[in-house]
Amino acid sequence: MDELRTKYLGEIAGAADEVALERLRVAALGKKGEVSLRMRELGGMTPAERQVAGPALNALKDEINGAIAAKKAALEDASLDARLKEEWLDVTLPARQRARGSVHPVSQVTEEVTAVLADMGFAVAEGPQIESDWYNFDALNIPHHHPARTEMDTFYMAQAEGDNRSPHVLRTHTSPVQIRAMQERGSPLRVICPGRVYRADYDQTHTPMFHQVEGLAIDRDISMANLKWVLEEFFSAFFGTTVRTRFRASHFPFTEPSAEVDIQCSWEGGTVKVGEGEGWLEVLGSGMVHPKVLEAGGIDSSKWQGFAFGIGIDRLAMLKYGIPDLRAFFDSDLRWLRHYGFAPLDVPTLHGGLQ
Ligand code: PHE
Repeated sequence: MDELRTKYLGEIAGAADEVALERLRVAALGKKGEVSLRMRELGGMTPAERQVAGPALNALKDEINGAIAAKKAALEDASLDARLKEEWLDVTLPARQRARGSVHPVSQVTEEVTAVLADMGFAVAEGPQIESDWYNFDALNIPHHHPARTEMDTFYMAQAEGDNRSPHVLRTHTSPVQIRAMQERGSPLRVICPGRVYRADYDQTHTPMFHQVEGLAIDRDISMANLKWVLEEFFSAFFGTTVRTRFRASHFPFTEPSAEVDIQCSWEGGTVKVGEGEGWLEVLGSGMVHPKVLEAGGIDSSKWQGFAFGIGIDRLAMLKYGIPDLRAFFDSDLRWLRHYGFAPLDVPTLHGGLQ
């Protein structure tokens, strides 16, 4: 029995893994195991012999079981230790830098303008930036020889020789979306159309690409008074304060009568402040939609009338956020973007306040 004991305890101690342990358990304690065979021999012994051998064999069995369990636990500990060593993490390392972008003031202001006007019942409509000259000019009552076509310093798309389709332009304003919206949605109608527009112009307050929001409301009895109310309501909601406005009689081929609208601002100290000072900045053109424009959009001008306006979004952003030079908007200077940009989750809502 001592021999068995020495043999199995030694082998258990030296077992490399659980498979080896199981093999040893079967060899000692399985049905045909060496210890089990000895136990079977108890039957052939005299009672006196059995009294000595029985408890001794049981003790041996317990001892082997115990040794196997202990070795098994030790093997598990060792493998856990090995894994921990291998998968070690240095939690004191500084976190990796993540590039963080910001929302451009033009995007932010577009969202703000949309939030205010959507609250007044205007739906958002869109149109292409490459537009046929019919939508950009003719349908808006700008005839072929009208100076507006050159005044606007239009970018014309190159046209192959012999291609006699109507020429295409980079849209010079968002007004062509008026026509598309009328054609697609009919009347009554209340839409805004935010988007990019293009003119060959470049100085402190002009860039060849800039942004506008068109507004269009058509119904049976809409008047200039409704236009004025909507714009004044819009400015106070957008700037969060009452803003003095100046409506100047003007001319656009697509509205009659027409008005340009300025808002009061100061330019002192190199920054713009709205609602202060002696200065004015023109931010939009507007008027009553010309009957010819309604007809081009497929709307009966003897039954329907409406107002339209086109706001310069970049100008509004300059005014609201005190940005002095329009050109910086499109320089992609990271320091500028970090300074004037907005946090990505800072989605403007009316109930959250727009500032
Ligand atoms: N389309 C005009 C512009 O770009 C603005 C405007 C829109 C004027 C609608 C009147 C009505 O300057």
